[in-house]
Amino acid sequence: MQVPAARIVFSADDRAEIAGAVSEILASGALTLGRHTKEFEAAFAAAHDAPYAVAVSSGTAALEIILRTLDVAGGDVIVPTNTFAATGYAVLRAGATPVFADVEPDTFALSRATVEAALTPNTRAVVGVHIGGLIAPDIGELTAMLDERGIVFVEDAAHAHGSKHEGRYAGSFGAAGAFSFYPTKVITSGEGGMIVTSDERIRDEALIYRDQGKAGFLGNVHIKQGYAWRMSEPHAVTGTVHLRHLPEFLAVRRRVAARYDAALAGSEGFDVVGAGSVSNYYKYLLMPQPGIDRARLKKELKERHGVSLSGEVYEAPLHQQPVFESYARGGLPVAEDLCARHVCLPVHSDMTDEEADHVIAALAATYQTLALDR
Ligand SMILES: Cc1ncc(COP(=O)(O)O)c(C=O)c1O
Repeated sequence: MQVPAARIVFSADDRAEIAGAVSEILASGALTLGRHTKEFEAAFAAAHDAPYAVAVSSGTAALEIILRTLDVAGGDVIVPTNTFAATGYAVLRAGATPVFADVEPDTFALSRATVEAALTPNTRAVVGVHIGGLIAPDIGELTAMLDERGIVFVEDAAHAHGSKHEGRYAGSFGAAGAFSFYPTKVITSGEGGMIVTSDERIRDEALIYRDQGKAGFLGNVHIKQGYAWRMSEPHAVTGTVHLRHLPEFLAVRRRVAARYDAALAGSEGFDVVGAGSVSNYYKYLLMPQPGIDRARLKKELKERHGVSLSGEVYEAPLHQQPVFESYARGGLPVAEDLCARHVCLPVHSDMTDEEADHVIAALAATYQTLALDR
């Protein structure tokens, strides 16, 4: 049996519906920021209990626009070092300096303590990342501390479609949340991003930024330095159709994760990350014991068992990436260890129990081989 790293699920009915809608869009000539964009925004906001949603061209754009509406230029913005480069880029492009912080080993996320260790006199905002779709159960302690200090919290929710903690969805813990619809994400529009917020001012400014800073769609008065961050109508309709399946995709992903949890509980070789938390399982995070060679584990799983692990989140922390070299301020040991060791088991929105069981058996067999060789 072959289990790929990711599978992007569009049923034949969905593909036919999208093709029909794209044909109508092309015939109408209304190709961008039209009816379908509004529908996608309304549906996404409803699915996340969010008062407002603004569709944009990517998750990176969503994050940069939020940071621009918060006027962080000239200040420091704390980000976890174990994130995608786009989180750091958005901070830089919004005119701020990224300050990389360490994270907690059991959530892969920032906490009150790790942010306090990274605070500077110039800290304007903190971007929390729900890595793999996991909302850290102690997020409330972090946001309470930031509120006391008057520092804004922003969520990079690129991984966290439908993730919930204590009845609240990702995107509702800070001033605004940025989602990505890149193809491998739980919901995709091909390319795209979404800003969710309960702040009317952020919503209004985001609408201006995404369309070249124009005061209105039809006018030509530019009041902010925006960009071509619009979402096209074919992308929007693709996202709307995919989003309808969010509840069933989450149910499948959680069923697979529960199977992995049950098989790995008490395992001597691996620690499950975030066990007991509620995630959308964009990624199923696992920490092999120290000394297990990750590259070899992945190679054996693929070559002997046909199991491809999903990509790490992330293989190298940003403070060790060449492009961010000048922003590094010393070691961040927890994140360095997580990045070096963790693996992500494959989870698909249409994964069968047989596939999940094959992954479990392959992992156990491979661990035995590697442990014997140690
Ligand atoms: C944590 C994180 N932030 C931001 C992004 C950027 O999203 P996009 O690729 O849609 O620009 C991604 C995308 O993979 C991501 O994983």
